[in-house]
This record gives sequence, structure tokens and C-alpha cells, in this order.
Amino acid sequence: MSLPPEQSSALSSFAANGFPAWRGRMEYVCLGCGARYPGDSLLYACPQCNDVFLLENLDFGQLAARSGQEWRDLFDARAASRATALRGIFRYYELLAPLLEEEDIVYLGEGLTPIVEAAPALRDAIGLPFAYKNDGQNPSASFKDRGMACAFSYLKWLCRRNDWDEVLTVCASTGDTSAAAALYASYVGAPLKSVVLLPHGKVTPQQLSQPLGSGATVLELPGVFDDCMKVVELLAENYRVALLNSKNSWRILGQESYAYETAQWYGWDVDRLCIFVPIGNAGNVTAIMSGFLKMLELGIITRLPRIFGVQSAHADPVWRYYAAPEGQRQWQPVTVSPSVAQAAMIGNPVSFPRVRRLAERFMEAGGPRAFQVVQVTEQQIMDAMILANRHGHIACTQGGECLAGLRNALALGLVDKTERAVLDATAHSLKFAGFQDMYFNDGFPPEYGVTPDKSLANQPELLLPIDARAGKDVAEFARMGADAVAARLSLQRK
Ligand SMILES: Cc1ncc(COP(=O)(O)O)c(C=O)c1O
Ligand SMILES: [Zn+2]
Repeated sequence: MSLPPEQSSALSSFAANGFPAWRGRMEYVCLGCGARYPGDSLLYACPQCNDVFLLENLDFGQLAARSGQEWRDLFDARAASRATALRGIFRYYELLAPLLEEEDIVYLGEGLTPIVEAAPALRDAIGLPFAYKNDGQNPSASFKDRGMACAFSYLKWLCRRNDWDEVLTVCASTGDTSAAAALYASYVGAPLKSVVLLPHGKVTPQQLSQPLGSGATVLELPGVFDDCMKVVELLAENYRVALLNSKNSWRILGQESYAYETAQWYGWDVDRLCIFVPIGNAGNVTAIMSGFLKMLELGIITRLPRIFGVQSAHADPVWRYYAAPEGQRQWQPVTVSPSVAQAAMIGNPVSFPRVRRLAERFMEAGGPRAFQVVQVTEQQIMDAMILANRHGHIACTQGGECLAGLRNALALGLVDKTERAVLDATAHSLKFAGFQDMYFNDGFPPEYGVTPDKSLANQPELLLPIDARAGKDVAEFARMGADAVAARLSLQRK
């Protein structure tokens, strides 16, 4: 293809350490009616048909002027870059939002999360090699930071171009979106101000503490996430606010970085890799498929991995859709029941049209088994999370959901033991410590349907009476303490 000379030289004269010179033109594409809108203003839903958008880089084809090997070399070289703007998700700048300038990029240490091989005993118990990608090691302790880094960088770009002096960012959340939005807004500061809308009593105390600590305005409504989502959609339609839910396609773009990092980690060879992703609002699974498809198009990878969405039986509209035979599939939101995978407890995922579109393209390029959805029970999710974390992992309940999904996929013959898997631990286990407590204390309300394996219960043990410290000096108390520990553990004297 012949490129305009300035674009051609921007592409060929790359310095791995410097901010890229090449720019692309971004457009929103409506998944309902196909209408297109320029990417230089913030849109969430199509003004003509109200469907969701995907963002498209009109100049993406120009990127093919570099070979797959050249792209791989560039991204590998950038891994050593000290340029702040290229240290996180924007290592893959050209594949994400190549309209941003270096000064727009917000970097809080997101992305490049570790892929940790399953502990050998856990791998043997499950029966095939697999790893957790610990997205809970992002700055707000969930994968949402990937999308927020992109959405906030874009907001900065917009504020700069439009000279805005105040922008109210709003989102509804099952906990992690609000934690991430509040963190990034508080870092960027003026002109941004963060408001988050939560379903009362439906986010964990740790997740609630996050936007509070970041200084966001935290508003609660009774109901579930799906209700709050409808409210912020109305707000975005009728008031001057910037919506940060995954209706905002810039967030989906940022989350593609999960796919790029995974491919890079495996030396750009993801053939026979099975990637397990929990599905809630369905933004993450959409982004991951989109990322792999872009890499395939540019020859950065030559084969697609397989993607497995995982849903709890208490919130499984996407599983239900794909469980029906092709030709008889009908989209039907569901009413959710309480789920330990609380962050994915969504009955009417906003991004379902995106999943359908991307899954279609994914299966066209990778075959009918390239995208599948598996269903798991609440019991399986908890058992899997506890098992993983007793083997040195830091999986949240959604990470447990992925391991439960892998087990079920193996049992169903969807995955075979010669393949390998990567499970998305989408948040840090600490955010969901309350569910671990319920497991250890046999405290699940009946609607969850979880019966703990009592042999796994773990409790702190108080070794001395509560007033044992009073009136003793340090040495005397230390001797008492050591005696009590030695007796409890039956330690042998040296
Ligand atoms: C920790 C966690 N895991 C999984 C999900 C589901 O991701 P998505 O809504 O993109 O499907 C969410 C958020 O919704 C989440 O916070
Ligand atoms: Zn439309």
C-alpha cells in the first residue's frame, strides 16, 4: 500500500524508546446500523439506533507496511523503554488509540501484569499446564485500570482540545469500575471530578473503600448493577457528564492490552492456548478477542488462541445464548441471583452486541471452537478460588470462576490435556476476602447455594488469654508466647 510520505516516514523511523510519530484517525462504528462518527467527541450509543460502538482506526491498514516480525521486534524493544508513556498499555500504542499525544497519556503503573504458572501441585490436580494472569496486580487491583488508562488519556486529549474547565465523570459499578475511575480521576485532578453510582450493599467493603479513599462522590441506589447502569445511561443521554462504563468504547480499546501482553509473554505464539475470561458486562472478553484479531491481521501472530468466556449459573445470559444451537439463538437478558462472582453478576450485559460481533469474526478466523462459553456453579467457583489460593495464587472470586470454567471445559472435552490455559484473575483476592470468610465460617446465605468443604476452614487461634500481656515485661511475655507456640506446634527442643 502507498502511504502519505509523512505517515510512511513516521512508521519507518521508529525509535523504540521515543513516543511514536505515526497517527491514525479513529471512528466510532455502530454495531446496530453501521453508522460512523468521528472519534473526536465522546459518544456512547448511536444517536440513530442507540446500539453500542466499537472504535476503528481508519488508517489501520497502513500498519501492514511493517511486517509482523518488525512489529514483534518493536514491541519487544519497547519492553525496555524508560519513556513513562510507553511503560503501560501504550507499549502497544499503534494498536490502541494512536491519536493521543505523549502529554495526554495517564500512567499509574497499569498493565504488564505477571503471568504466573500454576503451582506444580495445583497443575497436577487440575490435569494440564495453566497459568494465572494476575490482573489484580494493577494499581486499583483489577483489570479495569487498563481501560481507564485509555479512557482518561482520551479525556485529557479532549479537555486539551476543547479547553474544558470542568468534566464530571460518572460510572455505575459492581465495585471495580468505580475504584478504577475514582483512582484515575483523582490522579489527573482538575478539570476532572469523579462520581460513582453503586448498588447499595452489593459491592464489597474493600471495593467501597477505594472510591471513598480517592475522594470521589459515592452515590448509592437500592437494586442491582443493571438498575444503576440504566440510571447512568439516562444521565449520559440528558446531562453533560462523561460516562466511564464500558459503553465508553475507549475503555474497551485499553483492555485489548491484555491480549497483546499475553501474546508477547508467550513469544507471540498463542497457538493451542486457551484463555479463560469471566463475563459480566462483557467488555473484557470483547476487548481480548479484538486484540487478538488485530494482531492476526498484522501478522504479529499467525494463529489465534481459543477464548472461553465463563459465567456463573446465577448470571449467565451469554452462556444461555451460545448454549442454543446456531440458528436458534435468541438474546435474552436474565434476572440475576446472588453470586460470589459479584463483580460479574450482571444479567443484561451492555457489551453483548460487541461479543456477538467479535465472536463471529473470531470463529470465522479461528474455527467454530475458537470462542465458547462455559457455565459454572457458585459451589465450583468458591471451591476453585480456595484451592488456587491455597497454592500460592491471589485469585478473586472471578479468578476462581475461571479455574472452575477450565475444570468444566476439561470435563466436557472442550479442552484437552495437551493444550495450555491462561486464566484471568481479574481482581486481587483481597477485594473479595468476605467470600473467603463465609467459606471458612460456613456463613453463606442459602441463596448462594455454597456448602464449604469444612476441612479447608482456616481460623486464627488465640494462644493466650486476652489479658495475658498486662503487667509483664517484654522478655517475660516473649517467653510465655514462645512456650505457647512451641506447645501448640509440638516443637522439638534443639
Ligand atoms: C473483578 C471483575 N471480574 C470480572 C468482571 C467482568 O468483566 P466485564 O464486565 O468486562 O465482562 C468485572 C466487572 O464487571 C470485575 O470487576
Ligand atoms: Zn446505529
